Amino acid sequence: MNARLTPVPRIAVTRTLPEPGTTSLQHAGFVVDQLGSTGNPGVVELAAAFATASGALTTLADVVDRTLLEQSPHLKVVANIAVGFDNIDLVAARELGIVVTNTPDVLTEAVADLAWALLLAAARRIVEGDSWARSGAWPGWAPDQVLGQTVHGKTIAIVGMGRIGAAIGRRARGFGMQVLSCSRTPKPLLEDPIGARRLPLHDALAEADFVVVVAPLTSSSHHLIDAEAFAAMRSNAVLVNVGRGSVVDERALIDAVRGGVIAGAGLDVFEFEPEISAELRSLPNVVLTPHIGSATHETRAKMVQLCCDNIIRVIGGDSPLTPVG
Ligand code: GLV
Repeated sequence: MNARLTPVPRIAVTRTLPEPGTTSLQHAGFVVDQLGSTGNPGVVELAAAFATASGALTTLADVVDRTLLEQSPHLKVVANIAVGFDNIDLVAARELGIVVTNTPDVLTEAVADLAWALLLAAARRIVEGDSWARSGAWPGWAPDQVLGQTVHGKTIAIVGMGRIGAAIGRRARGFGMQVLSCSRTPKPLLEDPIGARRLPLHDALAEADFVVVVAPLTSSSHHLIDAEAFAAMRSNAVLVNVGRGSVVDERALIDAVRGGVIAGAGLDVFEFEPEISAELRSLPNVVLTPHIGSATHETRAKMVQLCCDNIIRVIGGDSPLTPVG
């Protein structure tokens, strides 16, 4: 066969990546179509790159739907740089013989750390305190200033007991906390080592001082935490969400925080990302971070490498390291 006729596989990479970037894809002999250098690629730009791509490295903000996949005749693999994959039509991918991969495990500890950062920041009003301290208006210590919630020895409910939930629970043990687990199926291998007690969702919500949502977004978890769920929570409760925004009904959350139904919230994910409603942004007892759960140098480097390894393996005819679906 004439080697000149063998097409070089093209890989659509939808965002600029942190170190180690796409080096290993280039070393593997692929042509990298780098998108996203002038902002997030739109539908047209994605479709143009996917039309000639054998592989794609996508983010959770890229909508990889049936239409896009059907217009990608050479596509063998979509490597999503996230543990979640609700942005990809898995049914269509399976029907079209396209492998989908994610980045589990490598981000577990970083996301658990961020959940705790939000929990502590919301419980102890760190952001409000920071603003006051740097405003120049703080008059000096007084016994009634910036009172928050005690964390040590309290009860935490983890909604979505998976690897990240268990890592959050391990940290809770260090704070002398009772851990409650809410998941659709029992997870004894994750729950037993951290002494987590399994309870139905609303029973756990009624007992918990801290509720941490890590559940992935599926048709059954959409708005799992709704007005009724907030009504079941304690008035001192703090809600943390590091899973997906739409697992929490954002309207109900705003009403619950505003109305004193719960004490506050720490949020890394939002129902209408990247929109964060003005009402949410105006609440002083809500701490907001811009979806940075896995955003450490070390973790992102591992996520990038795992995506590249998955692409190289699938296009080379090997099985992916971390397939989904
Ligand atoms: C981030 O939200 C992820 O799914 O990795």
